[in-house]
Amino acid sequence: MYKIRIRGGLRLKGEIPISGAKNAALPLMVASLLTDAPLTLTNVPNLADVAFMADLLRHFGVGVEWTPGHAGDGGRFRLCARDLTGTTADYDIVRKMRASFFALGPLLARAGTAKVSLPGGCAIGARPVDLHLKALQALGATVDLVEGYVVASAPEGLKGAEVAFPSVSVGATENALMAATLAEGRTILLNAAREPEIDDLGRCLIAMGAEITGLGSSKITVDGVKSLHAAEHAVLPDRIETGTYAIAAAIAGGEVELTGTRGELIGALTGLLEIAGAEVRETERGMCVARNGARPISVSADTAPYPGFPTDLQAQFMALMATSDGTSRIRETIFENRFMHVPELLRMGADIKIEGDTAIVTGVAGLKGAPVMATDLRASSSLVLAGLAAEGETIVNRVYHLDRGFERMEEKLRRVGAEIERLPS
Ligand code: EPZ
Repeated sequence: MYKIRIRGGLRLKGEIPISGAKNAALPLMVASLLTDAPLTLTNVPNLADVAFMADLLRHFGVGVEWTPGHAGDGGRFRLCARDLTGTTADYDIVRKMRASFFALGPLLARAGTAKVSLPGGCAIGARPVDLHLKALQALGATVDLVEGYVVASAPEGLKGAEVAFPSVSVGATENALMAATLAEGRTILLNAAREPEIDDLGRCLIAMGAEITGLGSSKITVDGVKSLHAAEHAVLPDRIETGTYAIAAAIAGGEVELTGTRGELIGALTGLLEIAGAEVRETERGMCVARNGARPISVSADTAPYPGFPTDLQAQFMALMATSDGTSRIRETIFENRFMHVPELLRMGADIKIEGDTAIVTGVAGLKGAPVMATDLRASSSLVLAGLAAEGETIVNRVYHLDRGFERMEEKLRRVGAEIERLPS
């Protein structure tokens, strides 16, 4: 167990390399189940969740070769599901990482059967999986719930169909998209999620021989093929990591270039940062965020599916607003319980009130360092950001949450001048 110690108040200057996206890498790894040929993924971040996913794939009989990256390069996976030796994902695996549930569609499409534990709730909300199941049922699967497991089968194979999602779900879109690649005939996904990670998954599936059109829109059409083949694909840059370090520059002040990423991935955030008084510009290698002088200006935001303001940046943005001049309203519309960072920010002197799905944040002139507790991945990063701006020392406990989704965070922040270190707790 580790904790992170931050001594706040230092301006940041320099560059931070952005890693491959966790939330793209996880479904991409699962896509290897769709073919007996190898799938090679590059620019893969070295994260606890990626290691969990590799374990899950080994459990299904997938050959996993991992070459870690070095000096800012991402790692490389060669995944080969030549023979599937299992189609069951146990509770112990799925409860540790919800993304394990993405295996349901590909297993069903390839093997005609799958048994995957229901994930249950998590720190940010109930997070049901009904949309995943309805989509697979629409493709002809029978689905039973047996002792906490989803038992799905399609012995004759999946059949293309129209799947209209009643609300936008990233994971259900990904599950259905993967399953539809091997279904017989045409599948049309309506009200599909438009997150860049779905586009990335779709591009990889196309490289594997899938026939997909409409990526990036809310109507995706898939014409099923008999089999997929070997491919190589580079994971797209992590937009949530990009946004988190963009906010780091804005909260601490200074100037930071984020390399290996693209500003357009976080358009909704950069609009807010500019209103708040930060300067954001594209560079040849990525983007640059700077803030000098005055306190950030308050600006309100509602989370929304892409291209809206991402829920995965809500906690980090709230840390910035906690230091702003004025009052902002931050509304969480995606998850019902994603304000777990608020009591911790209050411990650092923030002034935040929660009214239903909205946090009313009145900025304070200075946060104060304090011991705080991380509750989930993005909440943890918001506490680190608050620590960068706070006077004195902040200790963030339960750092394992951070390690699930941020590659070498303290090292990346140290290289731009932050005083931050990892200690045993
Ligand atoms: C993905 O989760 C991400 N995870 C999350 O990132 C992210 O917060 C979320 O999308 C929203 O952008 C991965 O990509 C691995 P959803 P996912 O299905 O797919 C409800 C992080 O910190 N819903 O789009 O699980 C659901 O409860 C994580 O990296 C149903 O009701 O999210 C939520 O309210 C956390 N029924 C909303 O839809 C379903 O069957 C959106 O969830 C599925 C979802």
